[in-house]
Formats: sequence, C-alpha cells, structure tokens
Amino acid sequence: MKRSGRSAIDFSPLLVAACVTMALTQTGALMAIDSPRERISIDDDWRFTKGDPPTLAENLDYPRGRRGKMTPVPTTGIAAWILPVGNALNDADHQFARPAGNYGAAISFVQTDFDDSGWRQLDLPHDFGIEGPFIPPGKADSDGATGRLPYFGIAWYRKHLAIPNSDKGRQVYLDVDGSMAYTAVWLNGTLVGGWPYGYSSFRLDLTPYIKPGGDNVLAIRLDNPPNSSRWYPGGGIYRNVWLTKTAPVHVSQWGTYITTSGVSPTSATLKLQVSVDNHAKAAAAVSLSTKIFAADSEGKPKGAAIATSGHDTALIPAGGRAKVDCKGFTLVNPKLWSPKSPNRYVAVTTVTQNGNVVDLYETPFGIRTVKFDPNEGLSINGERLKLNGVCDHHDLGALGAAVNYRALQRQLEILHSMGCNAIRTSHNPPAPELLELADRLGFMVMDETFDTWRGSKRPNDYSGIFATWHEQDTRMLVRRDRNHPSVVLWSIGNEIGEQGQGQDGARVAIELGKYVHEEDPTRPITTAMNSARAGSPFAAAMDVLGLNYQGSRLPNPQYGNFHQSFPDKFLYGSETASTISSRGEYTFPVANGYGVISGRGAGQDNANHQMSSYDLYFPSWATSPDMEFAAQDRLAYVGGEFVWTGFDYLGEPTPWGGGKDPSRSSYFGIIDLAGFPKDRFYIYQAKWRPEFPMAHLLPHWNWPERVGQVTPVHVYTSGDEAELFLNGKSLGKKKKEKFQYRIRWDDVVYEPGEVKVVAYKDGKQWATDSIKTTGPATQLQLKPDRDVIAGDGHDLSFVTLTVADKDGLMVPRSKSPIHFDVTGPGTLVATDNGDATDLNIFSSPDRRAFNGMALAIVKAKRGQSGAITITATSDGLTATKTTVATK
Ligand code: GAL
Repeated sequence: MKRSGRSAIDFSPLLVAACVTMALTQTGALMAIDSPRERISIDDDWRFTKGDPPTLAENLDYPRGRRGKMTPVPTTGIAAWILPVGNALNDADHQFARPAGNYGAAISFVQTDFDDSGWRQLDLPHDFGIEGPFIPPGKADSDGATGRLPYFGIAWYRKHLAIPNSDKGRQVYLDVDGSMAYTAVWLNGTLVGGWPYGYSSFRLDLTPYIKPGGDNVLAIRLDNPPNSSRWYPGGGIYRNVWLTKTAPVHVSQWGTYITTSGVSPTSATLKLQVSVDNHAKAAAAVSLSTKIFAADSEGKPKGAAIATSGHDTALIPAGGRAKVDCKGFTLVNPKLWSPKSPNRYVAVTTVTQNGNVVDLYETPFGIRTVKFDPNEGLSINGERLKLNGVCDHHDLGALGAAVNYRALQRQLEILHSMGCNAIRTSHNPPAPELLELADRLGFMVMDETFDTWRGSKRPNDYSGIFATWHEQDTRMLVRRDRNHPSVVLWSIGNEIGEQGQGQDGARVAIELGKYVHEEDPTRPITTAMNSARAGSPFAAAMDVLGLNYQGSRLPNPQYGNFHQSFPDKFLYGSETASTISSRGEYTFPVANGYGVISGRGAGQDNANHQMSSYDLYFPSWATSPDMEFAAQDRLAYVGGEFVWTGFDYLGEPTPWGGGKDPSRSSYFGIIDLAGFPKDRFYIYQAKWRPEFPMAHLLPHWNWPERVGQVTPVHVYTSGDEAELFLNGKSLGKKKKEKFQYRIRWDDVVYEPGEVKVVAYKDGKQWATDSIKTTGPATQLQLKPDRDVIAGDGHDLSFVTLTVADKDGLMVPRSKSPIHFDVTGPGTLVATDNGDATDLNIFSSPDRRAFNGMALAIVKAKRGQSGAITITATSDGLTATKTTVATK
C-alpha cells in the first residue's frame, strides 16, 4: 500500500479460518468425510481453585518491567518458557529458545495424579470476578474503576483429556481464545508455555507432551494482577478453549489470507495465501487447491462450489513452514459484503500429499471494497456511508467477561435497531465470536490492540510487558482477524501517552504500523487520539486519523485543524460524546443548548448517584450527542464517529468512581448494563435511521412533587417538525432547526395526565409518541426476548420484567423488590436492573426494579427439553409467570 501522498486509500476485502469435516466431490459438492483436522471444544468439566498450593519451589510470577522497559529480556524463570510461544508472531531476529528442563515440575497442582476432587467443578467460559461479592466502597481493593469486583488473584484450572491411541502421529494443539491473564499451561506435569496478555488468543503445541491412549491432565495457572486495568477486565479462562488435531502437514494457525482486487458487481479476483507447516521428519511435497462456496447463515459452505482454483505445489522443509501464494481466481457476479447486505463466502482449501488429503481448511470471507477518502468520507463498494459507530468494552454486564454468543448477538441486535453500523473493540482484541457476528449481521469493526504502550495508566497494566510482547500481540490480532469482511480499521492503541512524545512516540507508532501492514497491507492503521496535535509526528504516522472528543469539543474543536494539517488523510471521531445518564432519572433545571460539563449541580443527583437522562451532561473532556452531530454535519469530510459507549460496562462509574462512592458500572452507555435503552438511544436512532418513522418523548410523566413547576419536554424524532400536546392542548408546533437534533419545549408546566407528540416529515404526519401519568404499581409483567432456546447449556433467554399499574403502564419510578424463580429444565444465570449503584451480586434471584424494570437471564440445562417457567413475585403486587421452551 502507498503510505503517503495519496488522496484516497482503496482497501479491498477479506476473511477467517475454521475447520471442516467436509470434502469435495469431483463436481465440487460437499460430502462429509473423516477430516484429518478436528476442532474440539473442551469447555466442559474443568476443576477450579483460587490461589497457589502452600509451597512453591519456583517463582511463578511473570516479570514486568517499568515504563515499557524490560532489560535484559528474561532468560530464566517462567518468562523464559513462555516467550518462545510467540515465536511464530515475531521477526526472525526476535526469536526465543525454549530452555532445557521443566519449570515448576515439583508443583503439586501440575502433577497428573494430583487429587483435584475437592476443587470446584465448572464449565468454561468462566469469569470468577463476576461471582463477586462486590467489595464494599471504602474497603481495600474496592476499586470503582474495575467495578468493585474481585477479578484479581491467582487461579488454577485442571482438566482430564482422553486422548485416543489413534492420535499417535497427529499434531495436537491447545487453542485458547482468551484467558485473564499471565497464563501458564502444564500438560502431564510439563510446562508447555503460556501467554501474558489476557485479551490475546494463543496456541500451544501439546504434541511433544501428550500421551495417546491414556489420561492426560492439563493444569493452567492464571495470575491476574490488581490495578491492571481502567475497566473491569474479568478473571479466569473467560473465552472458549479448543483442541485442534491435525496431520503433521497442515495449514498453520490462522494460516490463510484472502484478498480481492478488481471488485465490481460483475467480477472479483481473489488471491489466497496459504501457510503450511510440516512437523514430519522429511520434507513434504504438497499440492493445494481451493473451492469457493456461498456461506449459509451460520457461515458454513452451502450448495455446489462456485469457483475453483488451479493446483499449486510447494515443498515444505522438515520442521518448517512455507507460505504459498496460490493462483488467483475470478468470481463472476459476486455478492458483495456491506453492512446493509452482509453476504459471505467460504473458501475450502484442500492440502494433499502423495495423493492423500492431509488437511481441509475453511476460510469464511466476504468481498467488498472500502475507500477512506479525506474529502468524501468512507464508502463501501462505492456507496458512501458514515461510521455510525459505538465503542464497547468486552464485558456482557451481569454475565461479566465470560463470552456468550447469544449475549453478544443480543447486543448487536439492539445496536442494529438503533441504526448503529460499526463497533470499536475498545481497547483490546475482542472475542472471535464478536467478529463472526459482525460479519454476519453487518457491522464494520475498528479492531484495537492496546490501551497503553510504554507508559502506564495503572500500575500493573500492559506497559509492564510492552517491551517484549507488543510485536506478538499486534501480529496476533491482525493474523487472526484479517479475513473478516467486517474489520475495516486496525487500531494500534487508545489515548496512548506517546501521542505527546514527538518523534520518539511516533517511532513506536511506526514500528507497530509496520507489523500490522506486514500482516495485512490492505487496511489502514489508526489510533484514538485525545491529545495529539494537528501536524504532530504521531498523527503523521497514522494512515487515517481518529480523534477522541477533541474534534468537536467547544470552544476549540480540532477537526478543522487536523483536516488542514493532513489534507490527504481520512478523519473521523474515534471516541465521541461520553455523555452520562441513568435510565429514567431526570434532574432540574435542565441545561440549555448543546449541554454542559456535569457537576456543580448540573445533571447530577449526588444523593442517589444518578445522572440526568436529558442527555446534556458530560465530563470535562467530553461532549453531548448534539455537539458531535453538529460538528460532523458542518464538516462533510468527517467520516463518522464511535460513541463512548454503546452499552454501559462494569467499572469506570464516572463521576462516582471515588473510594466512598457506591457505583459499580458506567453511566456512559446509550443502553444500560441490563440492555435496556436509555433515552439517548432514540437521539441516535433519529439521526442514524432517518427513514425509520419514530418519535420519542422525555421525561416520564410521574411528577407529583412538580405540579405547577416547569418540567421541560424534549423530543427525539427522525421527522423535521413536531407538535406537543399536554392533556389534549397543543403546546405549539416546532421545527427542528439546522444543527438541532432535538425539539425542546422548555417551559412546559407540569400537570398529571398525558403528554403526546405528533412528528411530521416534509409536512406529512410521520410518527407519534405519548406518555401518561400512571397509577400506583399493582402488577408485574414478564417478556422473554426469545421464547424458544437451545438446550446446549449456552443459549440464553433475556426476560424483561416490568412493574406496571392496573392499566398495564410501566411505573417509571418503581424500585419494587422482585424475586425471580426458575423451574423446569432451566436455570437462572443472573439478574440485573441497569442501576449503576446496585451492589447486589448478579447471580442473586432477588433484584430491585430500577425505574420500573429488571432483567432475568435464563439458560436451559444441557441436553434437557421442555418448558422452563420463570416466575416473578413482589410483596403487594400481582405475581406473574412466563415460559421459555427448550429443545
Ligand atoms: C476516554 C477513554 C475511555 C474512557 C472514556 C470515558 O478518554 O479513552 O477509555 O475512559 O474516556 O469518558
């Protein structure tokens, strides 16, 4: 890729790898065969304990340097055993030799015959931090920034693996999607290796230590330091874990890379690079061929092959690796991927040796062009598009960091309904499932590596290992994720201290950018810059420019300065707004204009630690939705934004993260921690889905204490004009003026009854909304998001509880205590209410409603079927039940 002097960058498409148990018939149809490759989930049935055994002969602490320095590179101790694991992701001059011997050989927990029957039995993914309890404010280790949860400390996991005799001669790998953190793995008493960064996926080669035909024992130690993160990181093996078994000659880990050129609706040329490993004692002559299939909704090949490559041959040295640039091929009338039509394909690559199939490897991908134009903005397949994006952390609210496909899918569905089309994985590599869902549902992704480089933000953060791991962790992200059509940007960091360090800081950025582009020259690098100056060497090192807040923040907005300094670089808001609010809370008086810095009374209910939902309050560094919209609408070259944040997250409860404050979770979300939209959802929906007829009124209309007082009513609508009625009387029709994103009636005098808005677009009625003063709470209502779920032990139903009056209207200030009960073939996984101050642990069946709502998360017992019954009760209110079927 040309790195400078261009006026626009053309970025072509991509894809991902999984494994198949399919082979190709001569006609190109798929048939099931015994694949030489297997990918087996080993999530079930682990044993777990906290803490080390009482005596440890060796020091298991992974060494951390200070201020990004680690000199000399450790050659003894645990790090010397773990560093070589990253060799495949390091330059040739940055390789580590595995020491002789066996570190930690005497530790009781790693012995094959150690009796772990007293340890807790559980399934992965597992986050021990979310189990709590919350650490009360004021107590040691009660850290608002990380959600006041006990995510830190040492943890051990053990699992028995039955490895059949038939695995003799095969390669056996342990693939960990993510474990938090400083993972070290022993198999049958021998230290295999590990990985320090808790967000990276990694592979360990178990082959030399495995005993086919017998019992094999994995023992995994995690050491998650306190004060290591600015948000809740979670603790434990919190992502999926797999055994991958292959023939000695096989496609390498993340070993395929598909790019396209000449993409149009009538044609696309595909290029495939395949990396093949040879673990045999002799050189291997192999032949490669690939067929392309349309993908079904699960991303699996369907129907007959629609294109077939020629054959490529390669000689792979014994114990070596070869990268094969396969012959290209052309697809006719390709169905292009875009957020609006997320069409996917699968490449199935066959590796043969001496006429035998030794590997079949599946690479899901999509075909699209992405263009970042400094003046015209972003376009996909030639169609102009704004980044209507959100930043999100990785936790799933009440489920913690433990990854769950359905929980992620629900998040994306909710975001989709808001008109969101892009996700920034702040500030770390995401779970692989997030990217699969983004491909499938049509989201663009800004895929991010780090929150810190050499300089630290917390005492025990990534800066301590940056010196020895930044290359491996950067290459890991790109190599793993480069085939996903959803990924459009590689972010090499967030608000990095090096922004302000002139050429020295830029040098680090250039180095990281080099690793990214060696793995994938087709996409631009970026960072989220909150303090880099226009024209600075750091900003100059980026392909495209992401600004956090400073782009639109008044009185000194920076988008214009950056555009002027870098007229050839695409510019966008990598982090915007950081508006704070609590669902259903409102304070008075209400700020004017585009909003104000919260505090000094503005927007804050300091007694209850709740933020006003008029969506006009933000911390000193931040802005409101309206302010960012206005800046971007004035400057057509700004390519869109990633709002901080889509969902509330555990930790960082600004403005109440202090030692004595009670809060556990953020106020930044457009959607609360339980997944319930706040008012802010609708200001984004109005802007991002202009063709979707909608109107949304705020606040609620239950204000007995405000009779006769001014109680402003604001309307978010995709229309251009609206008329407000109070108890049937018009309070006037108003137009949404240019650079206005809400219609305000700021002098409404409260009286109970009904407020109604009728919105218009181009003079025609477009949408309505109304809110009524409710009676007292009398009953409970339950509504599952899905009433049939799979009995696989993972699938979930999210059941919304509403506290209602006799007419079934939600009582908007109800804090009724609710008790949930689940019977039949299901279990209650967690409850929540979106209240940032609720320190009742998530697994509790008792949950106070917060402003009329609560959530119960239910799963089916594995392998069972029937009707799961969920009952909600509360003293003095009519109880209710609902059922969810499981198959
Ligand atoms: C940004 C930072 C985010 C989050 C946010 C809160 O500066 O990048 O991680 O802390 O502020 O407003």
